[in-house]
Amino acid sequence: MSDYARITGTGSFLPEKVLTNQDLERMVDTSDKWISERTGIKKRHIASDDETTCDLAEVAARRALEAAGRVPAEVDLIIIATTTPDKIFPSTACLLQARLGAQGCPAFDVQAVCTGFIYALGIAEKFIRSGSAHCALVIGAEAFSRIVDWSDRSTCVLFGDGAGAVVLEASDEPGLLSTHLHADGRYQHLLHVPCGVSDGLEKLAGKEGKVQMRGNEVFRVAVNTLGRIVDETLEANGLQHSDIDWLVPHQANIRIIQATARKLGMNMERVVVTVDQHGNTSAASVPLALDTAVRDGRIRRGETVLMEAFGGGFTWGSAIMRF
Ligand code: UT7
Repeated sequence: MSDYARITGTGSFLPEKVLTNQDLERMVDTSDKWISERTGIKKRHIASDDETTCDLAEVAARRALEAAGRVPAEVDLIIIATTTPDKIFPSTACLLQARLGAQGCPAFDVQAVCTGFIYALGIAEKFIRSGSAHCALVIGAEAFSRIVDWSDRSTCVLFGDGAGAVVLEASDEPGLLSTHLHADGRYQHLLHVPCGVSDGLEKLAGKEGKVQMRGNEVFRVAVNTLGRIVDETLEANGLQHSDIDWLVPHQANIRIIQATARKLGMNMERVVVTVDQHGNTSAASVPLALDTAVRDGRIRRGETVLMEAFGGGFTWGSAIMRF
């Protein structure tokens, strides 16, 4: 048993290829003005044809291990949150485990779409606090561009690829204070890829193999739900809005992020924003944003950080920590 699980290192990786709003203007009937005003996105990174989710995850994982001062042999749990695994099976976590040479420990994927990293963090925290693991690699990684319909202007401007990782270790000091995970499957049709394995794999090659979203409805539920989970998280820890040093939100839309910051009474200077540079990278977005702000020196040891996400399912969740 361990009192706390604490992040000891962060890492991330973005594919080299960049797709700007101007590039998209040449692909579909859209404009930089519309994308910027409605979403805050300016550009996103796209995996090359021979680059997989595991490739992105591996670089992010190695960077997080290096930051934590750990080697793969010390890892005793690997969880990857992804919606875009390399294979139907084995899990991308198993593929990564083999590359790292960390064999023997449990390795599995978690599917909670954009909330995946928060889910994976919550699961890893429970492994560590129960004494089942001491040094976990928790990753959000996506080659999301693979399930984007590049002829659908209502979705193709939103998403990007990337990976973020953390090393989570047993600790006597905080650490994660709490994680809060939720889902409501009644909303499944508002944001989904309508086909899967048991539902007719042959449909995968067509439009049903791509993301479909009723954006406006998702937007409204996301704003309300994230407002509620912020309150739930603070109440569970007896904290006030003013106790939060940094908000690291899921990066779907700057307007959703601003609404959550307003609810917290937080100046946008205390909110980590990467949506302009990365677009929505689904499960990778929170750990990518976290690593960005840790590496540029904004988030410092001892500060209180609130992470939250919302995505398909619907799923939503939060994690609050002393970094
Ligand atoms: O990460 C998982 C969770 N996902 C989200 O949180 C995404 C939530 N939703 C959103 O971020 C926003 O709803 C969008 C950015 C997807 C859309 O913004 P919106 O302000 O809700 O726009 P809308 O869907 O209401 O569309 C407004 C107009 C429509 O035209 P009409 O019907 O008013 O003539 C669309 O056809 O904008 C049009 N439109 C576009 N125009 C130019 C939709 N996409 C585009 C586009 N370029 N790319």
